[in-house]
Amino acid sequence: MIGFIGIGIMGSRMAGRLLAAGKSLVIYNRTKAKAEPLVEKGARWADSPREVGEQADVVFTMLANPKAVDAVAYGDDGLLNGLKAGKLWIDSSTINPSHSIKLAGAAAEKDVRFLDAPVAGSTAPAEKGELIFFVGGAKKDLEEARPLLDIMGKDVQHKGKNGQGTAMKLVNNLMLGQTIAAFSEAVAFGESLGLDKAELIKTLVGGPNAAPILQFKQHKIVNEDFDKADFKVNSIYKDLELAAEEAYAHDFALPITNTVKSLYGLVKSHGMGDHDFASIYAFMK
Ligand SMILES: NC(=O)c1ccc[n+]([C@@H]2O[C@H](COP(=O)([O-])OP(=O)(O)OC[C@H]3O[C@@H](n4cnc5c(N)ncnc54)[C@H](OP(=O)(O)O)[C@@H]3O)[C@@H](O)[C@H]2O)c1
Repeated sequence: MIGFIGIGIMGSRMAGRLLAAGKSLVIYNRTKAKAEPLVEKGARWADSPREVGEQADVVFTMLANPKAVDAVAYGDDGLLNGLKAGKLWIDSSTINPSHSIKLAGAAAEKDVRFLDAPVAGSTAPAEKGELIFFVGGAKKDLEEARPLLDIMGKDVQHKGKNGQGTAMKLVNNLMLGQTIAAFSEAVAFGESLGLDKAELIKTLVGGPNAAPILQFKQHKIVNEDFDKADFKVNSIYKDLELAAEEAYAHDFALPITNTVKSLYGLVKSHGMGDHDFASIYAFMK
């Protein structure tokens, strides 16, 4: 039995892949309504993270931030209170490496094995099983998990011990946040100079400076379609904040990231936290 906790934008799609592949699934989400489509397709509902832990051999968590992971992991109804010795917990949430290490320690106290396994790729790759997993933890645990990861992803990269998976993910997302902010500023500036928006986006995306992510994100900016998020402002702001905190702890300056983080913070403070993070374009404009 596979457990899955956190049936949000990503979790619903990842758990959906496991279910479609014929896996038996027991699921929990803080907001039950979001889990109902999967329950209709055959997933078993559990009333708490503890109940998921009690029933599953392997449990995935896909949660908003470190606080959400703690809320699910600890306490009487927490996952760690349900998981039996020897079971495997795979946390795919994007959190900071020092937090992953703490979770791995709390799991080890219960003889539960832990992998941090955050993902690169958004809604479309999650639906198609084309995510990229960055994994931290014991290689033998990863090999045990690999058949499940292969259902959800096209590439599984072992980065080292616990915390190295989330380290890779934070590094990855610095560039993601910066790229979309840089592109948005360029487009908004180009328009202010009188250039046609669609044409200038075509030139930028077809040119040598374009990152592959812009192939996917350009449409949201062309259509100014930000309400339905693939990846929320809240999420990228959280990632850049976690990177900033981790950098402080390692005495490493992140000047570009901190500037870009503040921009997403401003977008959030204008009430757009749940919008897609490409809405930084609207803010720049
Ligand atoms: N979207 C992407 O493109 C993408 C790509 C790669 C990685 N990620 C990462 O994946 C994770 C999930 O992101 P998402 O896009 O799926 O976001 P989301 O739709 O907002 O889902 C967040 C999940 O966390 C749960 N949650 C939040 N606070 C909680 C709390 N205090 N206690 C218990 N559960 C709580 C939510 O439950 P409710 O339903 O009750 O709110 C929901 O299941 C994040 O770490 C994000 O950075 C996202």
